[in-house]
Amino acid sequence: MYLLELGGEDDAFAAREAESAATGVDRIAPGLAVADAIVPAHVRGLAYTHRASELVGRGDADLASARAILEAAAIDREGTVAVRATDVHGTSGVSTEHAERELGQVLVDRGFAVDLDDPDHCLRAVFAAGPLEKSNDDGVLESLEDNGDAPTGKEVSVCALGWLEAESVRDFGTRAPTDKPFFQPGSMDPLLARAVANIAGARPGATILDPMCGTGGVLVEAGLVGADAIGTDAQAKMADGARTNLRHFLERDEPSPTGCDRGTWHVGRGDATRLPLVDNAVDGVVFDAPYGRQSKIDTHRLEDLVAGALAEARRVAPRAVVVADRSWASEARTAGWEIESAFERRVHRSLTRYVMVLEEAGRCQ
Ligand SMILES: C[S@@+](CC[C@H](N)C(=O)[O-])C[C@H]1O[C@@H](n2cnc3c(N)ncnc32)[C@H](O)[C@@H]1O
Repeated sequence: MYLLELGGEDDAFAAREAESAATGVDRIAPGLAVADAIVPAHVRGLAYTHRASELVGRGDADLASARAILEAAAIDREGTVAVRATDVHGTSGVSTEHAERELGQVLVDRGFAVDLDDPDHCLRAVFAAGPLEKSNDDGVLESLEDNGDAPTGKEVSVCALGWLEAESVRDFGTRAPTDKPFFQPGSMDPLLARAVANIAGARPGATILDPMCGTGGVLVEAGLVGADAIGTDAQAKMADGARTNLRHFLERDEPSPTGCDRGTWHVGRGDATRLPLVDNAVDGVVFDAPYGRQSKIDTHRLEDLVAGALAEARRVAPRAVVVADRSWASEARTAGWEIESAFERRVHRSLTRYVMVLEEAGRCQ
């Protein structure tokens, strides 16, 4: 079993993204999940999971529990060690300095040499406490459905120890929308773009389509985790700009920082409601629907554009992820999709971002 350290402010969404790199993902505390198995190469490309570690054991969020777990654990490892402790969002009040020292001493007593700079094995000791929010059947957080106030989940107190197995590459800051060669207001930030690309199935050998690609943010992230990326946009300016960004980030000789070859890419001017693709041409579709005023909507009313794009997405792919300023759930069902999960990310008082994960009918469990 593995311990996942989640990032960002929405654990349910982080856990859903983690499912693209792990099986049996289950949230156990704020900022923490466990998984039955992981694919380390995919963990490196996650946006909202920082680390995956082979679980040693878990208990209450205090140092005595952590010590007891480590003293009792079978350790089938050789070489030098270091302990790194985290108090997730400062929720447990455990001193990470004390934890590192005490747990390090347990390992020394068991015959290990400590190397803080370049250890052969890193033991993660993670402490978290607070309400554990769970989703309802539609994947929407219950605390958000109530009234959007403070989270209402069951109180938990967890300490988990694990040997670090894989870390995600934290280079998203180098791709801030305003630092890209082509920038337009309304561009998606690279963390969200990576997460939705991963949920749509981006990985080496897969093809991901963004039929309203704008500046190409989703396509760049899909390409960096090795997927082949296809984009269309109704505006020639956007299609040209997306090409500029894709050339900049994907046409490099060295492997991507996540360790895989960058994917191929193709972008053309086109209408998302009439895609120039054969049925089932791609593995997943992602689109960020125009927010009415923000983005130019070529010839369509917004409702017709989204309904048409959902129907075309269903024709060319078995899975889609839609980001928007409203739910579009009934339009998705009309287009033949099942809602596998849905997330509401409050950006500020007057803007909530909706993320819907759509599966072809019959594939949701
Ligand atoms: C919210 S923006 C996408 C932003 C993009 N995710 C990014 O990171 O830059 C929506 C895009 O949809 C495009 N669009 C509007 N109507 C379209 C249509 N009928 N077909 C294809 N693209 C369309 C707009 O030109 C705009 O670039």
